[in-house]
Amino acid sequence: MLSIVETDLGTPAAKSDTLVTLEIDGRSVSVPEGTSVMRAAALIGTAIPKLCATEMLDAFGSCRLCLVEIEGRKGYPASCTTPVAAGMKVKTQTTKLGQLRRNVMELYISDHPLDCLTCPTNGHCELQDMAGAVGLREVRYGYDGANHRDAAKDESNPYFTFDPSKCIVCSRCVRACDEVQGTFALTIQGRGFGSSVSASQDESFLGSECVSCGACVQACPTATLTEKSLIALGQPERSVVTTCAYCGVGCSFRAEMKGEELVRMVPNQDGHANHGHSCVKGRFALGYATHRDRITTPMLRQRIGDPWQPVSWETAIAHVASEFRRIQQSYGRHAVGGITSSRCTNEETYLVQKLVRAAFGTNNVDTCARVCHSPTGYGLKQTLGESAGTQDFDSVREADVVLVIGANPTDGHPVFASQLKQRLREGAKLIVIDPRRIDLVRTPHIEAQHHLKLRPGTNVAVLNALAHVIVTENLVDEAFVAARCEAPAFAKWRTFVAQEQHSPEALAAETGVPAEDVRAAARLYATGGNAAIYYGLGVTEHSQGSTAVMAIANLAMATGNIGRVGVGVNPLRGQNNVQGSCDMGSFPHEFPGYRHVSDKAVRESFERAWGVPLHDEPGLRIPNMFEAALDGSFKGLYIEGEDIAQSDPNTQHVTAALSAMECVVVQDLFLTESAKFAHVFLPGSSFLEKDGTFTNAERRISRVRRVMAPKAGYADWEVTQLIAQAMGYPMNYRDPSQIMDEIAALTPTFTGVSYARLDELGSIQWPCNADHPDGTPTMHIDEFVRGKGKFMLTAYVPTEEKVNARFPLLLTTGRILSQYNVGAQTRRTPNVLWHDEDVLELHPHDADVRGIRDGDWVGIESRAGDTVLRARISDRMQPGVVYTTFHFPESGANVVTTENSDWATNCPEYKVTAVQATRVSQPSEWQRRHQTFTEQQLDLLGKARTAAP
Ligand code: SF4
Ligand code: SF4
Ligand code: SF4
Ligand code: FES
Repeated sequence: MLSIVETDLGTPAAKSDTLVTLEIDGRSVSVPEGTSVMRAAALIGTAIPKLCATEMLDAFGSCRLCLVEIEGRKGYPASCTTPVAAGMKVKTQTTKLGQLRRNVMELYISDHPLDCLTCPTNGHCELQDMAGAVGLREVRYGYDGANHRDAAKDESNPYFTFDPSKCIVCSRCVRACDEVQGTFALTIQGRGFGSSVSASQDESFLGSECVSCGACVQACPTATLTEKSLIALGQPERSVVTTCAYCGVGCSFRAEMKGEELVRMVPNQDGHANHGHSCVKGRFALGYATHRDRITTPMLRQRIGDPWQPVSWETAIAHVASEFRRIQQSYGRHAVGGITSSRCTNEETYLVQKLVRAAFGTNNVDTCARVCHSPTGYGLKQTLGESAGTQDFDSVREADVVLVIGANPTDGHPVFASQLKQRLREGAKLIVIDPRRIDLVRTPHIEAQHHLKLRPGTNVAVLNALAHVIVTENLVDEAFVAARCEAPAFAKWRTFVAQEQHSPEALAAETGVPAEDVRAAARLYATGGNAAIYYGLGVTEHSQGSTAVMAIANLAMATGNIGRVGVGVNPLRGQNNVQGSCDMGSFPHEFPGYRHVSDKAVRESFERAWGVPLHDEPGLRIPNMFEAALDGSFKGLYIEGEDIAQSDPNTQHVTAALSAMECVVVQDLFLTESAKFAHVFLPGSSFLEKDGTFTNAERRISRVRRVMAPKAGYADWEVTQLIAQAMGYPMNYRDPSQIMDEIAALTPTFTGVSYARLDELGSIQWPCNADHPDGTPTMHIDEFVRGKGKFMLTAYVPTEEKVNARFPLLLTTGRILSQYNVGAQTRRTPNVLWHDEDVLELHPHDADVRGIRDGDWVGIESRAGDTVLRARISDRMQPGVVYTTFHFPESGANVVTTENSDWATNCPEYKVTAVQATRVSQPSEWQRRHQTFTEQQLDLLGKARTAAP
C-alpha cells in the first residue's frame, strides 16, 4: 500500500529527451516520448482510475479500469499501456467510460469481503478509492455465488499477512517481486476465476524463496498483503523522512508514526539510493529500537566483576571525566583514546574524534572502518587521489559489464543487488570473483558469464593475472592512459604485470582458477563496453587488502573504465556510515577530509577553530591500543556504538586488552560483548531518536531525522558534548546542524553541505563545494583528484597464514541477508526466524572425509583459538574452504580468526584463517567460559535494573 504522503503517477517515467505534445480533456501537455497516457494525465493532475498500474512497475494492462477514449482510435484503450503520440486527443471522462469502469469495479467488489470498516487499510485502500472514484453504487450480482471470501490467511511471515480473500489478482505483487526485487518468488496460479497468488511452489511465504523485502506489500493496492504492525497499531498519523541505519546502501525511508510509536517504515520513492525499494532489515527489523534489553540508565562499577550501580547522567559523566583525568595524570596524556562507530551519525563521529583530539589532547582515535574498509581509503587515495567510491548506484544502469569481487550484494547490499540484477536481466554481463558460489552466480534469469572461484588469499594474484592479459593482449585503452595517467608509473606497471610470472597460466596453481577463465574474464572486462567493478570486504580484509584495492584501480585506469557513468571502482561499504566515519576524521592519522595530522596548515586551521593546540603525530590504531593496554601504557577507552569484543579478530586478545584497562566506557543500546568488560555504561540512542546525517557507499550524505524522543534522555552527540564539558573543554552545540556547519567550514569537500541544502536537494554526494554546488555523482571525470592517475605496482605476496597438515582448511567469513554485523540489532528482531545461529558451511568432500553430516557439531581450530559450530554441507563451497558468519557472539567466529592484517592499514585478515574441522559433541572451552561469563554479567545487569529508580 502506498504511504500516506506519496503520489503514484501510474507508470514509470520515460527516459527519452524528445518531448511529445498531446491533448488530454482539452488540455495540452508535453511529456517525454514513451510516457503512458496515464502518466501524462497524472502529470497535469488528472487521475485516471487504476488498479493494476503503479509507478514502481512496468504497465501490465490487466484490470481494464483505466480505459480512455482516443480520437480516431477504435474501442477503449487502457491508458497505462498506451504510449502518448504527437497530436493525440484523449478523453478520460465520458458517460461510456464511467459505465465501463463501474462494470469492472462491480465484478471486483462482488468477490471482495465487505468489511471495510474493520479492515486495517480502511481509508487507505486503492480498491476502496477506485470504487468511490468510478461512482459504484450497487453490486447487481449479489454476494452468494462462488467467491474467495473464505480463503485462509497466510500468517507465516513475521512482518506481513497474506489474506487471499481480499486479493483482486492484479499481479502487482508478482511484478514487484520480479521487476523490483528480482527474487521471482511469486506466481499467479490457475486461470480465470481460479487464479490466485502463490509463493514459490504453493508454499507459505516463510517457507518460500521470499526474502521478505516487502516490495509486494508496498505494491498491493488492497489489504491482501499488509504489515502486521499496521494491523496491530492502526493507520499512522504522520511521517518523517529518514535514512536506514543498517547497510552502506543508505536507503531513504518514511518512518510512519502514531504518536511516539513507529507503525512502519515505507521506502521513499524519492530516495536517491533506493528509489522506493528496501530489504527486510531496513523495512521490518526495527524491533530492537524498543526492545526490553535496551539499557536506559547510566551505570558504573569499579571492576568488571562488580555489580553495576545505576546512577544519574551527571554522576556518570563526572565519573568518566575524573577517571580519564586521573589516568592521564598517572600514565600520561596518551594513555586514553576513543573508538567511533560507523553505526553513528557523521556529527557524532566528528564529535568523538574532536573530543579525543581537543579535550583528551591525543590522536588515539580510531574507527571500526579499521577492520573493514581502511584499505579502500589507502588504496584509492594512492591511485586516484580520493578515499571513496567513484560512482552513484544508478551508474550501474549504464554498465555493460559488471565485475563483482569479494562482495555478496544479495546478502550484504540487497537494494543495490536488486538494481544490479535489473541491469543484468537487461543483458549486462557479469564476472564474479569469489571463493564461494554466491547467489549472484546463478539466480533467476541471471547467470554469471565467468565465476573465478579463487582460493581465499589470492585476490592480488588473480587481479595481476587479469592485468597481464589486458597488457599482453593489447587491450589497454592507450588514449585514456596517455591523457589521464602518470606515464612513468604506467610504464613500470605495464612491464611489471607483463612478466610471465603474472600470467594466468603461471598463477593457476596458486589461485585455483583455470587460466582460460581468467583470460576470458579479462577480455570481457576490457572490451565489453562500460565495465564497472564492485568490491567488498572479500577484497579488503586480507594481508594484501590495500594492494588488491590498488590492483582494482589499476585495472579500471588501464581500460579507461573510470570517470564517467556506467564504469568505475565501487567499494560496497558494510555498515551504514562507514564512508562517513572515515570522512569525519576518525582515523588516528587524519583530520576530517583525509588530511594528515602532520600537515601544519591543516592542523592550524583546526587549532584556530577548536581553540587548543593539537598533536602532530598519528595516534594509536585499534590493534595498537590493544597492545598498549596489554603492556600497561593504555588505560582508558571511550567506545561509542562499537562492539570490538565481538567484531575484532582474536577475541581472547581483545578481551584480555579490555580487561587490562582501568576505565572502559561503552556507550551503546545494549549490554554488548564489549559492555560486559566496561566500567561505565552510557545508554545510547537509536537512529530513530536523533538528528544527524549518514554517508553511504556512494558518498551520499542523507539526513537522519528524529522521530521519537531519546529513550535515555540524550542523543549520543549530547553525551559526547557533556563529557567534553566535564573534561573542561567547551562544546556548546544546540543542534547537530551546527556540528555539520563546523564540519563544512573546516573540510574542503564538505564546504557546500548544510542541513538546509540537504533539505532542498534530498541528499548530496560529496565533494560539495564551490566547484560542485550540488554535489558529485561521478568522480574523476576530467582529471583524477590527485591530477594524473597513478598506477601502483602490486606484487603478490602470499599470506603467512598457510594451510598444513594440522590446519588443512581455509576459513573465510561473511554475512547473511537477515542479520547485520554483530547482530546486536537484528538478533533482537524476528529476523532470527531466517538465521538463528551461525553455521559452518563446508564442501561435501571435506565433510565426508571427516565423517561430518549436515547438522553435526563441528569443532573449528586455528592457530588463535577454537570454537564449535553446526555443520551445513554445501556445494557452494570449494573443497578445502569453509565459511561462516559472525552474527552471534556465542559462535566465537572471531575466537578463531588471527591477528594477521593488511600491511598498510592493519585491517585484519578475516578472510583467510587456516583451520581444522572435526566432529565434536560439546561446546568449546571458550564457549563454556563465555557462557558462564555472560550469565554472570546478565545477572549483574539484572540486579542493577532492579535497583534502578
Ligand atoms: S496480493 Fe495484492 S498485489 Fe498481489 S494480486 Fe492480490 S491484490 Fe494484487
Ligand atoms: S517480500 Fe519481497 S521477496 Fe518476498 S514475495 Fe514479496 S517482493 Fe518477493
Ligand atoms: S539495503 Fe541496506 S540501507 Fe537499504 S533497507 Fe536494506 S539494510 Fe537498509
Ligand atoms: S490500470 Fe491500466 S489496465 Fe489496470
